[in-house]
Amino acid sequence: MFTPGDPERLRTAIGVTAPVLQSGMGGVAGPELVAAVCNAGGLGILAALNLRPDAVRDAIRRVRELTDRPFGVNIWLHDDVRSPPDVSDHADLVRSVQSVFNELRPRFELPATLEAPRPMPDLVDAALEVMIDERIPVFSAGLGIPEPELVEQFHSVDAKVVTMVATTADARSAVDCGSDVVIAQGLEAGGHRSHGRKLTAGEAAGTGTFTLVPQVIEAIGDRVPVVAAGGIVDGRGLAAAMMLGASGVLMGTRFVATAESQASRLWKDRLTSGAGTTVLTDGFTGQWARVLRSDFTDHWAAYGGQPLPGLLQAAARADMQRAAVLADDDQMQPLYAGAGFDLLSDLPSAGEVVTRVVQEARELLGRT
Ligand SMILES: Cc1cc2nc3c(=O)[nH]c(=O)nc-3n(C[C@H](O)[C@H](O)[C@H](O)COP(=O)(O)O)c2cc1C
Repeated sequence: MFTPGDPERLRTAIGVTAPVLQSGMGGVAGPELVAAVCNAGGLGILAALNLRPDAVRDAIRRVRELTDRPFGVNIWLHDDVRSPPDVSDHADLVRSVQSVFNELRPRFELPATLEAPRPMPDLVDAALEVMIDERIPVFSAGLGIPEPELVEQFHSVDAKVVTMVATTADARSAVDCGSDVVIAQGLEAGGHRSHGRKLTAGEAAGTGTFTLVPQVIEAIGDRVPVVAAGGIVDGRGLAAAMMLGASGVLMGTRFVATAESQASRLWKDRLTSGAGTTVLTDGFTGQWARVLRSDFTDHWAAYGGQPLPGLLQAAARADMQRAAVLADDDQMQPLYAGAGFDLLSDLPSAGEVVTRVVQEARELLGRT
């Protein structure tokens, strides 16, 4: 006989009173959003990817000014982010990719270029050092499994480690490496697929939340609590996740569309207007991510070739990204969205989201 997931396991593991986690999200999850989720009893998670060490430290300290509840800090542990590829090894690919982008640059009156992009600095290890030095309550790993030594470093400062995976094999590795909580990310998830290396499109699509969560629970649910992620936006999702055996949910897209999120008005409008659909693309950053379908994703799909490795793809289109943001162009920037975005129609405060989701799930599960 199966038993529903127990939120008490999450309370014990990471100190939350509501079984709702808000994903770390670059450019979205700043201290205000994180603290609002924590103050409502959930776990808010700061995004540290691509932030300089001082900015990571400042953000952590700001969260501490806004809440005395436990919070998390997230970073990607992807192989290509920790050891960025050398652009000079990819000269032919640079020309192919820039040629595709050159077809789009006239939209913004940008000059054509075949130049190699300037690689993004490798800031992951410096950010991890700051997190340990600041003794953060929870470290959240995405797109890769933390090695046992890293987990040990966090445990030595009493921090818990939460690792997001998209396969049962990775779930086993995450627990073997010492993770305290595992997040099972189904293919409906907005943003990047949580793999530590670049996979083919077929492999990266993977398994849907409804299928992955019980499989992960069978694999490791007796060892650590499992949290469900991907396409969940309301109390129905939390109740269903608990019925599958999850102890709680992690949501990204729902929190993009909140008052405290740092996402642009354009992005929030697109998420709540119900128009469009989502696709998996590697055209924006080089890594597979779910976004709102757009002229850019169609154009990139028609090219059908490889992107630049690591995050060099993002660097190669940095000029177009800046121009698209300035022009409020929703067709040429990545508007990350999970497949559940169609259910969103409002912009509540993040605290209200936590309270509402928990209340709805309680009513559905017949608990008070
Ligand atoms: C805008 C956005 C940014 C994201 N950034 C990150 C990130 O920096 N690190 C990470 O581990 N996951 C990131 N994710 C993925 C989430 O962790 C999570 O798997 C996903 O949001 C769950 O699906 P949902 O968006 O349907 O709720 C991001 C998701 C979104 C929507």
